[in-house]
Amino acid sequence: MVDASPRRRRTVVLGQGYVGLPLAIRAAQVGHRVIGFDTDAGRVKRLKAAEPLGPDVTADQITAALTSGNYTPTACSGDLAGFDVAIIAVPTPLRDGAPDLSAVLDAGRMLAPHMRPGCVVVLESTTYPGTTEDILQPLLESVSGLAGGADFHLGYSPERIDPGNRRWTLQTTPKIVSGIDAPSLAAIRAFYRGLVDVVVEVAAVRDAELAEVLENTFRQVNIALVNELATHSRQLGTDIWAALDAAATKPFGFMRFTPGPGVGGHCLPIDPTYLSWQVRRQTGGALRLVEVADEINSSMPAHVVQRLTEALNRRGLPVMGSRILLLGLAYKANTGDTRHSPAFTIARLLIAQGAQIQVVDPHVEEPFDLDTDAHHAHLTETNVATADAVALLTDHDAFDLRLVERHAVYALDCRARLSGENIERL
Ligand SMILES: NC(=O)c1ccc[n+]([C@@H]2O[C@H](COP(=O)([O-])OP(=O)(O)OC[C@H]3O[C@@H](n4cnc5c(N)ncnc54)[C@H](O)[C@@H]3O)[C@@H](O)[C@H]2O)c1
Repeated sequence: MVDASPRRRRTVVLGQGYVGLPLAIRAAQVGHRVIGFDTDAGRVKRLKAAEPLGPDVTADQITAALTSGNYTPTACSGDLAGFDVAIIAVPTPLRDGAPDLSAVLDAGRMLAPHMRPGCVVVLESTTYPGTTEDILQPLLESVSGLAGGADFHLGYSPERIDPGNRRWTLQTTPKIVSGIDAPSLAAIRAFYRGLVDVVVEVAAVRDAELAEVLENTFRQVNIALVNELATHSRQLGTDIWAALDAAATKPFGFMRFTPGPGVGGHCLPIDPTYLSWQVRRQTGGALRLVEVADEINSSMPAHVVQRLTEALNRRGLPVMGSRILLLGLAYKANTGDTRHSPAFTIARLLIAQGAQIQVVDPHVEEPFDLDTDAHHAHLTETNVATADAVALLTDHDAFDLRLVERHAVYALDCRARLSGENIERL
């Protein structure tokens, strides 16, 4: 039987990325003996050297976890042996527009031979309703020879991590937990109660899975609404940003979302498609609003390029050969996270038209994945003043925005942070 004492529990976390690493370190901090398993041996090597891979864990925290003996990063699946609790936090991307659960399945196959009666398995990866019970459970059962519920506990607990957010961390953000039966729910609740301040029980695993994709779909749809309004508001003779500021003074029934150059990161460009794909597959119907929202948000980089093109055109300049200074490659301010960042699409569209691109992003390391020899430029008076157009794509605090206001011949502000006569807002 598994060890019931949290202090001596052997906890394995499969996937040491944005989600799995902070979870592993937190579990080690509260006394679990944690195996941080990742198939990327290079990543494991860097973790063994206490490199903070991501914004939510510091080098000091990793060092403390390593020296306490409570945290062992590994790429060896044999180290999964003898676990009491296993958390699966591996990627769930799209492949050809459809959910790709291969990492979840691989993780399940590696875990199952090491399962013992009484062990606990929790899926944290974002996915569509039904994954835990219809896909993961049969896999674990067939490989381990154990029965879910009768022999082992199984459930789903969605991750709500907001990389870089100092207020709402893994510990302070309420954590949804679910289990395939009451004993599973009780075991999973007990595990997370030791890690986070508030645990929220959801009776059905499918509902917990839906809650995760619902949260991100809600954001996707609302961002699409303001993005679409932004593309029309100038022709209406209105300013979307002023309207948003005004509407946001309503103390109830309104939530402020802001337009931008497109959505990025691991969640919004992917999670809503998991849901709409599953609805089409399982019901034959369509989540029309979600599909249209995806289309609108995906079209925003082209809209940004269109606005830049129009601005150059008004000055008699073609895109071909024009110098365009892009401020920000990361999808999110003050991070170096470039996953699905719309800035790359904007840069590629401009490069394809022959523009001379300069990129400033102090958080993103070279080489840039741009099929060109674009290098880091600095935000200097000369670079701003000599650019035919500047586009503020990501509003990092490190950017001297006053310098842009003073020296830009023309700037397209996608974040509503600039003002002045040479500035246009998205
Ligand atoms: N990043 C976020 O803000 C966020 C928020 C909520 C939910 N999620 C979800 O959490 C899951 C993990 O996301 P992430 O951001 O941590 O991804 P990530 O890419 O940062 O990390 C995933 C890690 O898993 C490793 N991996 C891949 N296959 C593996 C396997 N079979 N066994 C062990 N390790 C394996 C990869 O090498 C990688 O290091 C995804 O489903 C994601 O949608 C992410």
